[in-house]
Order: sequence, then structure tokens, then C-alpha cells
Amino acid sequence: MEMCGAIAVLTIDNPPVNAGSHAVRAGLIKALQDAEMRGAKGAVLIGAGRTFVAGSDMREFDDKLRWPELPDVIAALEAVSFPVIAAMHGVALGGGLELALGCDYRIASPGTKLGLPEVSLGFVPGAGGTQRLPRLIGIRRAIAMVCGSERISAEEALDLNLIDMLAGEDLLQAAVDFLSAERRPKRVLRTIEVPREPDTQIEAAAERALHLGRRRPNVVAALELVRRSREPDADRVLAEERATFQRLRRSDEAKALRYLFFAERRAGSVPGLDRAEARPIERAGVIGGGTMGQGITLAFLAAGLTVTLIERDAAALDHALSRIRENLSEQVRKGRISAAEHQAHIFNLHGATDISAVGGCDVAIEAVYEDMAAKRQVVTALESVLAPDALIATNTSYLDIDAMAEGTARPERVLGLHFFSPADIMKLLEIVRAGRTSDAVLATALKLARKLDKKPVVARVAEGFIGNRVYAAYRRRAELLVLDGASPEAVDAAATAFGFAMGPFAVSDLSGLDIAWAMRKRQAATRDPEARYVEIPDLLCEAGRLGRKSGKGWYDYSGGGAKVDPEVDALIDAARARAGVVPRDFDTSTIQQQLLAAIVNEAACLVEDGVAARASDVDVAFVNGYGFPRWRGGPLYWATRQDRTSIECALADLADAVGPGHRAGGVADVLSELDAGTGA
Ligand code: NAI
Repeated sequence: MEMCGAIAVLTIDNPPVNAGSHAVRAGLIKALQDAEMRGAKGAVLIGAGRTFVAGSDMREFDDKLRWPELPDVIAALEAVSFPVIAAMHGVALGGGLELALGCDYRIASPGTKLGLPEVSLGFVPGAGGTQRLPRLIGIRRAIAMVCGSERISAEEALDLNLIDMLAGEDLLQAAVDFLSAERRPKRVLRTIEVPREPDTQIEAAAERALHLGRRRPNVVAALELVRRSREPDADRVLAEERATFQRLRRSDEAKALRYLFFAERRAGSVPGLDRAEARPIERAGVIGGGTMGQGITLAFLAAGLTVTLIERDAAALDHALSRIRENLSEQVRKGRISAAEHQAHIFNLHGATDISAVGGCDVAIEAVYEDMAAKRQVVTALESVLAPDALIATNTSYLDIDAMAEGTARPERVLGLHFFSPADIMKLLEIVRAGRTSDAVLATALKLARKLDKKPVVARVAEGFIGNRVYAAYRRRAELLVLDGASPEAVDAAATAFGFAMGPFAVSDLSGLDIAWAMRKRQAATRDPEARYVEIPDLLCEAGRLGRKSGKGWYDYSGGGAKVDPEVDALIDAARARAGVVPRDFDTSTIQQQLLAAIVNEAACLVEDGVAARASDVDVAFVNGYGFPRWRGGPLYWATRQDRTSIECALADLADAVGPGHRAGGVADVLSELDAGTGA
């Protein structure tokens, strides 16, 4: 604490992100007492370094919290005789924003991000966030920020009345001036009334939040608390908020989500890699403007990059660019980007049919057809037009990146950047470190991932890398279940009941059955003749049932939604008869156990093979790229929470079902390693 005239300046200094730890809380109480003793007329609460307060120190959340807890600090802020202003920059998240809401006034530097992410971490804000926020911005917006963990910018916060002013260059000076300019009275938020809003609007926001939050218990609890901010007895609701927070922060879901939070951070860092080596990326080239190329372009534009898109001819280029522009206009209509952002994106978007147009780019990514010859041709062309230290990336799903880099003069700059569809929406980015990829290139790719707001996972070159390889094992188990007696709809229902966004057969129909069909045909010659083969998907393709795009696949889509089709049942019966299978019954729990066992086993194989550096990377990939329920932490984390005997039984059943050629991974070792890492 320092005095600046009559104003006390309280600086929170807990690198790297000023997380609100016990020491920070105790320090604040002491600083407020000192300020009072020194006769301060006002106080500024500010963060040292690059941010205000990025949240509470979550490592404390598994145990009993020590005094002073955050509500004690906020009570002290409210009790001092002088007004306190929070001066925010960087981010003010979770407990950090609650601290600011405990102050009398708030200002922020332009670009500051504010939010309450507690619900996305499985619990609820516990230091008044659900009660003080609605008093400033109204219940409708508070529902989105609390229940949907929506982050907003300082500019939006000003519009919403969450902050009192945007600061100029000098944040501290602006805060001191704000307090000194007029005699600012104390303004304890807890005591002011919630603004009135039409009930219908509140109900619509509530329904949306419940839907997006999949009606998880903590979402329901958070919603109830925000609604109750209208009650006259604020202290009583604040106490209930605290009790709910204390109960939920130690719930299984909160533990799983905390695990995932740290797993995601680990996945984005590679031990021994020098961050300083990362080079700046401002300009990107995208080769191929199909489904993926368009999505990748949108993702790059959203990150503020200048993008040059290359297509084969003028017609294909026009088509791709107009699809991208339509998408941008749609984002404006839906309020996802502002008119100014839209204008900037259009300005940053370029197209060409000659690959030399990407000459000045820092990175170029190819997203042409999944064909080795086509991709090698593009890589060779890129090599001759790009600067020597520019990155050459491929979005290939399965092809060997080492082979693609072979023969290039500088293979150390070639790597995989495997986006997921839709590339502008899906959070997962697999960064594939090829045999010769340099540390500097990998460091640059990780930095790019952060800039794109993606969740990176680093993989080595292998068929399907991490995600698609594990997914293939999962889908194969699903198909074997159908061959052995389960119906596709029962398998899909079991997967969605477990929490998957979609079942495996609905997913296949959505992405199209022909891609895997082509791959099976390619692999037919080298397939182990002893291995069990499920021919049902081949029969579906032969019958012209390629999925949603042909109106039929595992399901019939002619009426709009997915309908069970007797023609598919007949194909399945025929396949069973030919394979000599006597169909059995599978209950939901067995189906779920088997789907999960297949994932866990394949993940263990991947870790053994060094394709994934750590087991937790598989969790990060499955949650962010394959619709695995986030609140379960990931398939491997889930397995650590089951009793070992049931996992062993499920793995034995998996080995029986897969039959000859089954590879059993070292699941026990992987789960023990994960246990040790998480304290699970
Ligand atoms: P797509 O067929 O929709 O698009 C390919 C585009 O590349 C076409 O527009 C074509 O005109 C263009 N193209 C072909 N050769 C070209 C050349 N020499 N120069 C410039 N443009 C050229 O394919 P999609 O689905 O976008 O896939 C692209 C790549 O991304 C493939 O390697 C695929 O395996 C991979 N991928 C696809 C995913 C998906 O869900 N579709 C997911 C992740 C990766």
C-alpha cells in the first residue's frame, strides 16, 4: 500500500496473473486497515504486471479455505470509511471480478476482459458475483455472464454499466483522478436495487442458459441465485450463495473440470521448449478453400490475421470467398462480431489463384484434397514462394507428414496443424510435430494456437494422430456392438445418455460414410484376415446410404429428423447372419462401459507409442474435438474414478469382442500416472 496524496494505492502483486490466493486476501485486509489508519480519503485497487486478477487460486479449492476468505475481504472493502475504486486491465475474472464488484466504483483499460467463469468450472461464484452483478447490469445479462460464463470487453462493460469509465493510457492516474475530481460518496452495491426488466426477457435468457448449460446442477443453482437477487434481504441470499459455492466447489463435476483446466494448460506447453524462439505471425496463407480452408480462414480472421486464400481457379475462389463473406455477415446479424470487426475482417481477407500471392506470409497451411501427391505438390510450391523461416503447415487428417516433408530443403519448418470442422468454432487444434520439425517452429505453432483461442494438443506423426486414432477405436467398438446385437439407435442413445453431444452413428451420418469407406478399400489388401470385420457400413455405402448428404445413412433423414429405417435393420441382420453371429442383448451401462473401454485402451496405446506425450492430452483432445462431456473431465479421468475391477472387466470384454489382432494397452500404468498427477 502506498499513499498518493490522500488516495491509498493497493497493488495486488502475485505473478504471473495475480491469482487471488490466501496471501493476497490477507494482504488486502491489512492494506485496507493501514489505509484507514493513515486517513485515506479514497483507495485504488490495481494489479501489478500484465493483469488485474485472473481469478482465484484454484489449487486451494480442494481443501478447506483459510481465513480471510474472499467475502471477508469484500466485507472489509464495504466497511472502510472511504470509497474504493477497482482499476482493471488485462483480465478481471472470477474472484477478481467479484473483488471489483465489492468496490464502490470500477474503471478499466480498453480491451480488458471481464467475466465469471465459475459455472464453466462446475461450481458457482461464491463472493457475491450472482448478487452484485445483476444490480449493475440487470438480471437478463447477468444470467448470460454467470450461467453461460460469458466474458465481455471493457467497452461492452461500459455500455452495460458494469464499469463507470474507460481509462486512458495511465490507468492508475485515471483512477486517482476519478476519485479526486468530485467527492465520490461510498456506493455499496449490495444495497442498491436490481433494475426492472420484463419477465419474458428474463425467462428467455434463463431457458437459453439452461439449454447451453445442459441443465447441469450448478447451472440450475447459479440461475436460481441470479434470479433471487431481486429479493430484499441481500445478506440472506449472499449467505446462501456462499453455502452453494462451498458445496459445489468440492463436487465431482468441479473436480473433473478443475482437472481439465490444468490438463489443457499442460497440453499447451512442451517441456524444454523456449518460448522466446516463437516468431510473430501476422500474415497467413490458406491453400484450398473447401470446407476446412473456409473455416481456417475465418479462424485466422477472428484472431486479427491478414489472410490470403488460394484456390485452383477463379470460380472456386469466388465461391469460397463469398461463402466466407456470407458467414461474416451472419456473425454480424447474430451479434457475434461488431460492424467494425466485420469491416476489419473484410479488409484483411484476400484471395488469389496463383500461389505466389502467399509469398509474404509468416505461415501457410494447405487444406487441399486428402491426397499425398496433391499435398506434396502444394508443399513444394510453397517452399519456393515463402520466406525461409515461414511455417509450412498441413491440415491432413491421416497422411504421413514426414513423407510430405521429405525432399523439401528445410523440413524443420514443416508441421501439421490439424483443425476440426467447423474450424472457426471447434476448440481443438492438434499440432503435429513431424520427425524434423524444429523447436522454434513448434513454439511458434503453440503461440499461434493461443492467438487463435484454440486448445492445442501436441501429437507425433501416426495414422490419425491422437484424436482420429482414438475415435476410430471408439467407432469400431460401436460397430462391433451392432454386429453382436445392439441396435445403432441403442448405441447412440447410450452415448448421449452418458453425455456425448451425439452418438457415433449420428456423427458418421453427419460427416459422411464415404470417407471411411474409401479408407477401408485402400486398406483391404493389408487387412489381417483373422480380424473381425464389420461390413455393415460397406453395405450402407453400397446401397447409396452415405449419410445426411444423401438423405440416408444409418438413419433416414427424409422427414427432417433422424428416423430408424427397417432397410438398415435388414442390412444388419444380413451382416450378422453372414458373420455367424447370434445377436445378444446389451444394456445401456454395458454399451457405455464398452465404448469407454475402447477409448481408454487406445489412449494407453498412444501414450506407449509416444504419439501423445501424456494421457491427459487425450482427455483434452476428446473433450474439445469429439463432443465428450466436459463435466466428466475426459475419458481417462473418468476411468480413474471407476473401480479398477470394473475397468479390468470392461477391458477383458473389449479384448473378447475385438478378437484376433486386439492390442491391449498398458491401461493400469496410464491410469496410475494420471492418478498421481491429479491426486484423484
Ligand atoms: P474439400 O474437398 O472441401 O476442399 C478442398 C479444396 O481444395 C477444394 O475447394 C479444391 O478446389 C481445393 N484445391 C484442391 N487442390 C488445390 C490446389 N492445388 N490449389 C488450391 N486449391 C486446391 O476438402 P476439406 O474437407 O476442406 O478437406 C481438406 C483437408 O482437410 C483434407 O486434407 C482433409 O483430410 C482435412 N480435414 C478435413 C476435415 C473435415 O471434417 N472435412 C477435418 C480435418 C481435416
